[in-house]
Amino acid sequence: MTTALFRNAMTEHEHSPGYLIETTYPDRFYRELSPVWLNYVATLGAGQPRMLDGHFTYLELGCGFGQSTIANAGAFPNAEFYACDINPAHIEAAVHHAARLGIGNVKFYESSFEDLLAKVELPSFDFIVLHGIYSWVGSTARASIQQIVARKLKTGGLLYLSYNCLPGWSTEAPLRKLMQELADAEAGDIEQRTRHALTTLQQLSANNFRYFRDNPATVRAVEAFTRDPANYLAHEFLNDTWKLYYSIDVADDMARAGATYLGSATLADNHPMLLVDQASAESVAKLPTARLRQLAMDFAVNQRFRRDVFVGGGPTKLTQAEIIQNLDNAIIGCVCAVDQISAQATIPRGKISFQEEFVSELRLLMGNGAVSIGDAVTALGDADRNLVEIKQNLVFLVAAGTLSPFAQASAQPAHITPKRTANTIVDNALKNIARTGNPEVVPCERLGSGVLVQAQEALAVQAWLARTEHDRLPPSRLVRLGLLT
Ligand SMILES: C[S@@+](CC[C@H](N)C(=O)[O-])C[C@H]1O[C@@H](n2cnc3c(N)ncnc32)[C@H](O)[C@@H]1O
Repeated sequence: MTTALFRNAMTEHEHSPGYLIETTYPDRFYRELSPVWLNYVATLGAGQPRMLDGHFTYLELGCGFGQSTIANAGAFPNAEFYACDINPAHIEAAVHHAARLGIGNVKFYESSFEDLLAKVELPSFDFIVLHGIYSWVGSTARASIQQIVARKLKTGGLLYLSYNCLPGWSTEAPLRKLMQELADAEAGDIEQRTRHALTTLQQLSANNFRYFRDNPATVRAVEAFTRDPANYLAHEFLNDTWKLYYSIDVADDMARAGATYLGSATLADNHPMLLVDQASAESVAKLPTARLRQLAMDFAVNQRFRRDVFVGGGPTKLTQAEIIQNLDNAIIGCVCAVDQISAQATIPRGKISFQEEFVSELRLLMGNGAVSIGDAVTALGDADRNLVEIKQNLVFLVAAGTLSPFAQASAQPAHITPKRTANTIVDNALKNIARTGNPEVVPCERLGSGVLVQAQEALAVQAWLARTEHDRLPPSRLVRLGLLT
């Protein structure tokens, strides 16, 4: 398959009204969109992960510059990736980026959601993802998204959908109205109007206004906006639509499209123990329905952004043994340097601590590369340790972001000296990082996602490949991640 821009298939200005196309969105990577990450969520939610060994299909709706889809396509060369966005500048840059890396298994479409099904022959999908879309598009676009899900998500396929939600935004929501009205009153292009609106908003928030005094978080929010790029703020606040959801209402929308809630791609949200104290967890657990428990938990944590994962056609009924086996088979590893695995990790409730001895053994284990949770439990188990607790520690370390879900276990110990970069895509990406001096997300088959590689690491690889320094070792993190083989 070739990387292609299907612009000619579209007629002019078919975009849904009300979404900004005057300015591009920041070019960002989201690890939660990886098929491996979504499979891990399915596993935690007692669902069946999708097969990733061979061919599968993946669609991103509203892909922006396509960075996440490109990284995932590079990490799964046997799968077929599709992505669409209404903004021509996004699609053009995405096509160029994929071509620069030599990635051929992704097709980008300059298309609205509304036109996609009519204009493009699409297969059914194992994964459909949309990040930063649902709260920001109008009802016609949302109806089209639901239609795409209803018609194109396979039974058992996984859907990722993120959105702004209530009650977490309730105090700050009026800031959007103020920002929008201030921007409307300004002259200039959209970014200039955004910047001017923000300056006025800042001035207003410095006054003794009762709203700001009664809601001190709003002053901090305005301060935080000043650190965001103007194009991000324009896309966040200045579209016609900015809809705040209760998560159960999104679940109702998806149920109408035939998809059922499985869990959260914000991994900690799947573990009440990491979110709230015991009394709160018990009050939530006592509520009679899953729907009420979900709503109450959003109030318990004052949830403002959700990354929900749904399954097409309803969850597969697995036995308890199958659920446990799926978790044991899930592969985990460390993306960062293993000495950064610390005895304390940050979780929504605060900090969680692990025994130093356990953590030093974990560093050694992870230094050899990714392993299945089952194998990790066996390796870390000894007479004094409870195997159930070890497994829980590992799952909590993944939820805290210290460890990550991986696609493949490491076949060989990481100390074996590699000879070359893993493939042309990795080679192209590392050369570009070394040349520009800018960090970049590199597709990584072992992780099944993208890895941010810094300029020093890429330069070290170039020096090592050129053998300019004979006794230099290749960067161990990249060896462990299978980017050098
Ligand atoms: C907030 S941005 C998110 C981009 C990307 N998913 C990310 O998170 O970086 C929303 C994206 O949706 C695209 N978009 C908005 N409405 C659309 C529509 N009706 N059809 C297709 N794309 C749309 C925009 O062009 C923009 O790239």
